[in-house]
Amino acid sequence: MKKLLKTLTETFGPSGYEDEVRKVILKEVKPLADEVRVDALGSLIVRKKPAQGSKNPKRIMLAAHMDEIGVIASHIDKKGFVRFTNVGGTFGKYTLGARVRFMNGVTGVVGYDRLEQVDNALPINKMYIDVGASSKEDCPIKVGDFAAFERSYMEMGDRLVAKSMDDRTGVIVLIETLRGIKSTPNDLYFVFTTQEEVGVRGAGAAAYGVDPEIGIAVDVTATGDTPASMKMVMELGKGPCVKFRDPGMLADPRVVDWMISTAEKAKIPYQREVLLVGSTDAREIQISRAGVMAGALSIPCRYVHSASEMVDFNDLKNSVKLLTAMLSKAVSF
Ligand code: CO
Ligand code: ZN
Repeated sequence: MKKLLKTLTETFGPSGYEDEVRKVILKEVKPLADEVRVDALGSLIVRKKPAQGSKNPKRIMLAAHMDEIGVIASHIDKKGFVRFTNVGGTFGKYTLGARVRFMNGVTGVVGYDRLEQVDNALPINKMYIDVGASSKEDCPIKVGDFAAFERSYMEMGDRLVAKSMDDRTGVIVLIETLRGIKSTPNDLYFVFTTQEEVGVRGAGAAAYGVDPEIGIAVDVTATGDTPASMKMVMELGKGPCVKFRDPGMLADPRVVDWMISTAEKAKIPYQREVLLVGSTDAREIQISRAGVMAGALSIPCRYVHSASEMVDFNDLKNSVKLLTAMLSKAVSF
């Protein structure tokens, strides 16, 4: 599982350019799936059919997004320095000094204009990418080229660090859950979505196509366990988080109860989540078509949207256990 996580997090995939990530996933899920398709926005939809003789199988959509935050070149100056803007929630505080890789393989480092005054605001419109060029003519980057953080995966005991843990951890949890479900009375759709980071765009289209009765997003959540962090209860290593609320969604109480009662019965640790910033694919799934019962299972993650996002391996394993337990049985609501 860790080897696959390394591969997934080191794969290039800013919003709109999820192809390489989809290839890695496809190789894993193809032998496990009853049906596989890719929709117009690029989401990968993997179906596991209900066991024969199942009565009134529920259509359940699981979603994890393939894309990661990134940047896009917006201007190249005479000396070949690349100005850029954000693709998703790319924050200045994490971007300065970062290494990035463009879709054509070119790497660069992010520098900053001379500071007029030293303060803590680092807007990315004062930053540029230095790709080693000396003029506009020899600059290998064109306006419209996408880039993502370039950073290798690293293990510190059970603490795993990489770029794009948001949301390749969700991706791997879905893959391992699919692998772990021997038989199910439900009609399951494992959906690897696109363009989450730019406003949960792929999930809405995919949900329209799948038309689920229940939807669950698996994504990371910020924690409250670092010095002077936001007052939130989520911690690394204390189990997957059952979402109650984030600024984009109120989780359906039936889905919340389903997660909690399954965790308690199976003695899987879990945490209650009220997230103060951000949202997930579940927001868009919940309001698709005539509405869907939706919730989210979250993986606690420190330093979200940096090039060194940190998760705990035990939370990944327990997320797989919980989802496997939930999806292997008939749903009673
Ligand atoms: Co994100
Ligand atoms: Zn995410």
